[in-house]
Amino acid sequence: MVNIAVFGATGNIGSRIIDEALRRGHTVTAVVRDPAKFTATAPGLTVSTGDVLDPAAVTAVAKGQDVVVSAVGGGDGPGHQATIEPAARALVEGLRALVDQAPRLVTVGGAGSLRTPGGQQVWDTPGLPEPLLQIMHAHGEALDYYRTVTDLDWTNISPAALIQPGTRTGGYRTAGEDLITDEAGNSTISIEDYAVAVLDEIENPRHSRQRFTVAY
Ligand SMILES: NC(=O)c1ccc[n+]([C@@H]2O[C@H](COP(=O)([O-])OP(=O)(O)OC[C@H]3O[C@@H](n4cnc5c(N)ncnc54)[C@H](OP(=O)(O)O)[C@@H]3O)[C@@H](O)[C@H]2O)c1
Repeated sequence: MVNIAVFGATGNIGSRIIDEALRRGHTVTAVVRDPAKFTATAPGLTVSTGDVLDPAAVTAVAKGQDVVVSAVGGGDGPGHQATIEPAARALVEGLRALVDQAPRLVTVGGAGSLRTPGGQQVWDTPGLPEPLLQIMHAHGEALDYYRTVTDLDWTNISPAALIQPGTRTGGYRTAGEDLITDEAGNSTISIEDYAVAVLDEIENPRHSRQRFTVAY
């Protein structure tokens, strides 16, 4: 059994990571900014309040955890991309304060920096809307930052280009820097199967201080 704290607990992806963790019998602390927005109850689940941009809150929440997951960002507003790279820095600063008891950090990344079959990065695809490009590059900046971190155990997990609510099949493929596409050229994953991959990585770490991607 693993003690897992999840920032972004009210979100599309964070909530399903919590579901998958609870399903496997782990102990989960859902970290929220506004407890009124998180009403789920389950054995093994507790709720804690904290802003991911506050390193002291990260330290407080992370104490006694084996793993801290961050699935923050989201929405269509400018707050989305503005959260991602500062959150990476605050998470690292907050975990560093725990010195040699720092839990592992597992973060939800972005698909923008992955390489396409054509050899470009996804964010070089013509015609992408500006707000999406900004979010992609924010994830790229966060990943660049994580790659400078050598004193913590971190893993950044890029979803497929398209991730949406769907079915938990338990099946997925992984890759390092390359966007995974199916025979039709589509890069997709359900949030449920992405959450399976996150929990598989937590239970069986294979990508310490690396980014990897998950898709069908
Ligand atoms: N293909 C892709 O690469 C792809 C696709 C989708 C999503 N993503 C990434 O996955 C992440 C999660 O996406 P999502 O769709 O699950 O988003 P979402 O449903 O909008 O959820 C975002 C979560 O972040 C939390 N949050 C925002 N700022 C916070 C802060 N300062 N402190 C603590 N929590 C904070 C929100 O909490 P509140 O309830 O308090 O607002 C919410 O729980 C984002 O980084 C997004 O860019 C990547």
